[in-house]
Amino acid sequence: MTNPNAKPYVYMTRQVAAEIVSSLEQVADVEVWGEDTPVPREVLLEKAEMADALFTMLTDRIDEELLSRAGRLQIVANMAVGYDNIDVRAAKERGIVVTNTPDVLTEATADLAFALLMATARRLVEANRFLHAGEWKSWSPYLLAGQSVYGAKLGIIGMGRIGEAVAKRAKGFDMSILYHNRRRKLEAELATGARYCELDELLQESDYVLLLTPLTPETHELMGEREFGLMKPSAVFINVSRGGTVNEAALYNALAEKQIWAAGLDVFQQEPVPTDHPLLTLPNVVALPHIGSATYQARTQMARLAAENIAAVLTGREPITPV
Ligand code: DGY
Repeated sequence: MTNPNAKPYVYMTRQVAAEIVSSLEQVADVEVWGEDTPVPREVLLEKAEMADALFTMLTDRIDEELLSRAGRLQIVANMAVGYDNIDVRAAKERGIVVTNTPDVLTEATADLAFALLMATARRLVEANRFLHAGEWKSWSPYLLAGQSVYGAKLGIIGMGRIGEAVAKRAKGFDMSILYHNRRRKLEAELATGARYCELDELLQESDYVLLLTPLTPETHELMGEREFGLMKPSAVFINVSRGGTVNEAALYNALAEKQIWAAGLDVFQQEPVPTDHPLLTLPNVVALPHIGSATYQARTQMARLAAENIAAVLTGREPITPV
């Protein structure tokens, strides 16, 4: 017999700030995966069978198999704005709430997107390696010359909250902004002067193409051979969305054959990206290990919001940020 006074059970797949775990302990018995590596699949399946709530990361696959084994699961709270790791339809069919962490990471991710754009345009990583390798022999007119950012044209694919926050930064650099989205965002147009256009026009016109769209069946490998082929030879491609939105072989070819000038990538099809991945062999690629929202402040707020969603659902209230 189950004890009617027993607290609900929450399983957290990573360690987060102690104060956040304590806040959940007010309403639940909490268990945390103790390693700083993804929880093994078999452990996650076993915990999901008993859990009333799962506090998950984008590295945890919450699919039909897991959800069908979950006996009393009420909520999956993902500590990410993206939720392509979760079968939302299968969760909804079982009455399981799914939540994400929008807004709290917007500015941090926009900062990273802009930093990656600047680093790629001005070859910062390559320049740093060059200096450390003792290759700096003299100043010279075109030594490590890059592309102008100030006054250039930025094309944003996926004008959500993060896109709008990047556009505000770009405005400070006097950039003209094009965007493509499922629907027009008039408020973003008013705030930043961004102009809506079709994808092909954006690709043909932009000096910087920034991909921010969520990964869905529609956006899977949205950027492929045809799309890279439309970009200018001087253009820079930046991806801060999900690796699955890009056909990496096509991107490699476009870079290697100088159809486009450079790429800045925070995300990859396979993460962690293997160190012998062809894209990592190219000098004109700046590669980061999926750190879009990685500031202490944003990550703590993300964890807090995920915990608040769990506490809300376990105490019979509405989730704060359901997807
Ligand atoms: C997200 O939240 O989806 C980011 O990719 C991880 O910070």
